Amino acid sequence: MTHLRVGILGSGAMAQTHLRAWRALDVPWLALHDRNLETATDLAHTYGAKVYDNAAELIRDCDVVDICLPTFLHLEAVMQVALAGKHIICEKPIALSTKEGMAMIQSCETAGVRLYIAMVLRFFPMYRRAAELALAGKLGTLQVLRLKRVGFPPHGGTSWFADDALSGGIVVDMMLHDIDYALWVAGDVVRVFARLTRTTTQQYAQAILTHSSGAITHIECGWAYQNGLFRTALDLVGDAGLLEWSSDAPPSSLRLPNTVEMIGAVPLPAISAASDPYTMQLQHAAHCLETGSPFEVTTQDAVRALNVALAVRSSALSGRAVMV
Ligand SMILES: NC(=O)c1ccc[n+]([C@@H]2O[C@H](COP(=O)([O-])OP(=O)(O)OC[C@H]3O[C@@H](n4cnc5c(N)ncnc54)[C@H](O)[C@@H]3O)[C@@H](O)[C@H]2O)c1
Repeated sequence: MTHLRVGILGSGAMAQTHLRAWRALDVPWLALHDRNLETATDLAHTYGAKVYDNAAELIRDCDVVDICLPTFLHLEAVMQVALAGKHIICEKPIALSTKEGMAMIQSCETAGVRLYIAMVLRFFPMYRRAAELALAGKLGTLQVLRLKRVGFPPHGGTSWFADDALSGGIVVDMMLHDIDYALWVAGDVVRVFARLTRTTTQQYAQAILTHSSGAITHIECGWAYQNGLFRTALDLVGDAGLLEWSSDAPPSSLRLPNTVEMIGAVPLPAISAASDPYTMQLQHAAHCLETGSPFEVTTQDAVRALNVALAVRSSALSGRAVMV
């Protein structure tokens, strides 16, 4: 339960996901605004929220603004909300460029408001538990991470997502999740190499990140399948064990080397109503805003992931390895 009054900007896919999560958290006051008043009204009706036809009035009336707008609008929206002195939750990626991201962070600091970037993968229970095990040294020294995220083109591949100037393209928009995860689990990245192929509606990319520790991460990412199909997977390999999970083949397992007797299964948790990652994430952000405690994912983390994503995209465009 949070006592914050939450105002959402947007009424698309993520606005709906956040609305559902805020409802699960029993917020006392929930409202939204979108340029499309009809979809905003429908969504508000479904989730028992208020509708505002004016963004400035919504911002005035709430404690925290949850920005679920297309990425190319994040900068402008964050600036407007910061100027109004309200705390901000903003969907990932923070922005389309490092410069924009830093300007957003700076304007929030100047205005004395807090900015949380919604890097939700860290709240997926299986990814979270796998990271905890790896960071606690249960796999020994990490050597290789293999991460997969292949789904279908958002909105059929014809919306703003398909325009790199508006979304950053698949690497900045979607591979960013796994890039952030790799940075979290295996530390700084010094070099990237990537390939990307696309049609008018589909995009598919693979990247190899070299961490300063010497570990490597391989990421496969696509807007390539038919509607509705979405596959994710992770393998974390250290010199003392291999942890693997796939959305195709749960349950996961932790395998230790040495002897057959040493082989054990450590199931990673699945998503349940009680561990919905979007709800967990917003609960965390709301708790931090109410108590003044630090966010688990910082704005610096968001910019760091964006920097690596931009290097990956640049490698894919040039066909050459890029130093980060
Ligand atoms: N964390 C995740 O899992 C995840 C998943 C998908 C998208 N996202 C991010 O969330 C943000 C929103 O994505 P979405 O999937 O909700 O997008 P969407 O296209 O489904 O919704 C966008 C909303 O913004 C509104 N809007 C206002 N001005 C607009 C304009 N000029 N052009 C287009 N739309 C405009 C639209 O009316 C719509 O309500 C993006 O930054 C995206 O990268 C995050």
